Amino acid sequence: MCGIVGAVAERDVSPILLEGLRRLEYRGYDSAGLAVMDTHNLLHRHRAVGKVSALDAAHASAPLTGSTGLAHTRWATHGAPTEANAHPHLARDEVAIVHNGIIENHESLRKRLTADGYHFTSETDTESVVNAIHARLAAGDDLFVGVQNVLSELEGAYALGVISTREPGRLIAARRGSPLVIGVGIGEHFIASDVAALLPVTRDFIYLEEGDVVDLTRDSLTIYDTNGQPVDRPVRTTELTADAAERGEYRHFMAKEIHEQPRAIAETLEGRISDNRVLPEALGPEATALLEQAQRIQIVACGTSYHAGLVARYWFESLAGLPCDVEVASEFRYRRHVVPAGTLFVTLSQSGETADTLAALREAKTLGYLASLAICNVPESSLVRESDLVMMTRAGPEIGVASTKAFTTQLTALLLTVIAAARRQGLGESEESRLVAALCHIPRQIEEVLTLESKVEALAEQFVDKHHSLFLGRGSQFPIAMEGALKLKEISYIHAEAYPAGELKHGPLALVDADMPVITVAPRDDLVEKLKSNLQEVRARGGQLYVFADAASAPAADDGCQVLILPSVDEVLAPLLYTIPLQLLAYHVAVLKGTDVDQPRNLAKSVTVE
Ligand code: G6P
Repeated sequence: MCGIVGAVAERDVSPILLEGLRRLEYRGYDSAGLAVMDTHNLLHRHRAVGKVSALDAAHASAPLTGSTGLAHTRWATHGAPTEANAHPHLARDEVAIVHNGIIENHESLRKRLTADGYHFTSETDTESVVNAIHARLAAGDDLFVGVQNVLSELEGAYALGVISTREPGRLIAARRGSPLVIGVGIGEHFIASDVAALLPVTRDFIYLEEGDVVDLTRDSLTIYDTNGQPVDRPVRTTELTADAAERGEYRHFMAKEIHEQPRAIAETLEGRISDNRVLPEALGPEATALLEQAQRIQIVACGTSYHAGLVARYWFESLAGLPCDVEVASEFRYRRHVVPAGTLFVTLSQSGETADTLAALREAKTLGYLASLAICNVPESSLVRESDLVMMTRAGPEIGVASTKAFTTQLTALLLTVIAAARRQGLGESEESRLVAALCHIPRQIEEVLTLESKVEALAEQFVDKHHSLFLGRGSQFPIAMEGALKLKEISYIHAEAYPAGELKHGPLALVDADMPVITVAPRDDLVEKLKSNLQEVRARGGQLYVFADAASAPAADDGCQVLILPSVDEVLAPLLYTIPLQLLAYHVAVLKGTDVDQPRNLAKSVTVE
């Protein structure tokens, strides 16, 4: 959701900024731009609609060089993705800004600045900010004071970087509501929306807090907190390496990430289980006591993470006997809540920066929940820092917009949490040991499912000319059907809906004909016979069925019913295994359709605006 990179150095920063943008492109990719200050202290800028490669081409034909600069990859909010709306925005060629977030009072600022003689060249909210800063500098403020004064007027969310020809070699950055890190180099400083952008130049980072404003030069760095007081923030060395976010031999990040799932799940289990039992310290020292007090669970998340929450609801209720509600964060945050005593508030997020999920957490903190637990993939994220308890998934950087390994590692972390909570509810040792043993076996079983890829690819060919599809599941497989439908629509643009199979006859059956593929996940469980009756309803209407099933539960294959057999799996763990063929199906349909698999149209990986 917009990526920012900035640098103050001695060397030419253009290649660093462009490489940073490539690494941030998953955040937004409808247009990009770069501004650097040359040795005569003049600002030069390139902007281009489309991918960073378009900006690369503009830069290659007229290279910019300079030791101070800013760059941005955009996901449009205010104004279409045009060159004029692309960042960096300039004010009278003296001030340049990059911004991620939304300035809610930009219209009143724009009115005031227009009356003061400022000319606007874009439809963005950001241009009001850069003009307002320019007006402060013209009135005598230095760059830091000017930015600080303008920030105090802003309503909304931002991460931003500002440079000015009046003070070459100085970069002011600020964050409120959108992520921003400082990269600490040797005699150089950087800013970026996340660490991945800067891994080729540094592994030392400062994670800014809400409201922080930073004054950077090549060799100085001062951070001011939300009250304007200088503060020390620790420098942390990341364990990530520059190649952690590279595609390797795979054609797409999504393919790489699908294939990384066995390892990612194994790593998420690492050090958290022993002798087929979940270790008490798996969730941190305070967790055991808090889980013992928990009487209910409220889960909040967005997108794929929300689907992980829906699976967990079945687990919390069936294994731990804990009532569990799950809600999408954008709804939760704007609703009045009745919070029963002893409710644990759980957020799920790959990035830990999703604006709605963060806002829901902040709202929840005022509502009297027992405590907050974040299950998250990014250790330094805002969500992790603001939660009482944290359970990290260890999926490694996920770059493909369509989430895969983040989902299965969330399910893994959730199941560990449920098992830990279920002990108090009388989950016996032998049952725990059976579940944990089955969970440890999952990485190998996923590897087996991945060997079926060519078969899924063959099925995918039958979807290429389809416009609609229906995904069915029952019980804890219904969220897996939802996740399968989300994957397919996100990357292949085929309309996909998920239904609990028993609900078919109450509406969607009307849509079923030979042109409507119906995809079903049918592991062996208590509901599979009922599910098979639902499938008969589809067959009777000429519907084309694609069934992923266990040998023991599979319906008979025939012309209208294609079946792919998956390894037998414990019923509780089936969601982890059955999501894999649906990821592969969506991936191969998208590849065959020639869509942009890793960066599908209109979407972004990390949605840091509301
Ligand atoms: C975006 C991404 C999805 C993701 C969702 C929630 O919509 O495209 O893949 O599931 O955000 O993101 P989070 O980082 O909070 O899990």
